[in-house]
Amino acid sequence: MKTIEWWRNKVRIIDQSKLPGKLNYLNLADIRQLWWAIRGLKVRGAPAIGIAAAFGVVLGMRNSHAKTHRQFNKELKQVIRYLKKARPTAVNLFWALERIQQKVLAHCGQGIPFLKKLILKEALKIMQEDMDACRQMARFGSKLIKNGDSLLTHCNAGALATADYGTALGVMYKAKRAGKRFKVYADETRPVLQGARLTAWELIRHKIDVTLICDNMAAQLMKEGKISKIFVGADRIAANGDAANKIGTYNLAVLANFHRIPFYVVAPVSTFDFSLKSGKDIPIEQRDPREVKEIFGQQIAPKNVKVYNPAFDVTPQHLISAIVTERGILGKPYKNSLKRLK
Ligand code: MRU
Repeated sequence: MKTIEWWRNKVRIIDQSKLPGKLNYLNLADIRQLWWAIRGLKVRGAPAIGIAAAFGVVLGMRNSHAKTHRQFNKELKQVIRYLKKARPTAVNLFWALERIQQKVLAHCGQGIPFLKKLILKEALKIMQEDMDACRQMARFGSKLIKNGDSLLTHCNAGALATADYGTALGVMYKAKRAGKRFKVYADETRPVLQGARLTAWELIRHKIDVTLICDNMAAQLMKEGKISKIFVGADRIAANGDAANKIGTYNLAVLANFHRIPFYVVAPVSTFDFSLKSGKDIPIEQRDPREVKEIFGQQIAPKNVKVYNPAFDVTPQHLISAIVTERGILGKPYKNSLKRLK
């Protein structure tokens, strides 16, 4: 199962908006289709969004008729500006776009056909690096899982959110391969149910013992002693270790602190934003009120009720027990340990 790939000169993605009912693939041939796929959560999860954006540059630039470098660079800037507007929180999107822009700038002496090929090469490299990072995070993070553990996760930080194994779920896949016995509770993750639709589906496919709960059940499970560790992904981690992730993650971190349960964040280096001192500056995406007022098009609230729908929240660093990256497990104080990643 490939969440995203470059296939016959198109970007092939699993349409995650159709899961778990249908495993449909979409072949995206132009930048607008790709932009809407990101905005509409057809491709989602921070690392996968970054890879999709990188391929978006390929789609946006391959038909360029620019004759000069000046013209080519101008078009490239426009394409990148457009893609940056697809979603605001996952820094992987901005990281991938800036990386491609730098690559092109570093080769400005080359011909335009060369530059077009270079963009594709860089996008494929970004995808390959994400695959490698997933495997490494899984290797490090799986050591935190012990026989008999009962884990909790939120949203979907699995294969569907990356090019390979996933981040938080990758750790579980690796632990399972190592023969460890454990079970997982998955939060349904309102409003758009990535936990129920995607994580439950993925974990069942991997034959992991998974139990679905509504978001508001987590505290009770913790009180009953049913949760021994929590693993989540991240969309942007500031220089002090504050981590943005799907709305509801902060709730879990507070509850974990109260119940003295370890709370781990698993994320690749591409998810760190060293330009931000703390999580206060992380832009939080506000999404369509219909996501809250409706479930799969079915109205569940008065049409004219006011809605607040932030897609992410920020967990302060002091509530995070450790951050698992492809370079190892980072502990507190994060101000110091994160410097290793720069
Ligand atoms: O809105 P989404 O589905 O893109 O949000 C995704 C998450 O919050 C994930 O937990 C995060 O991107 C980590 S994915 C490895």
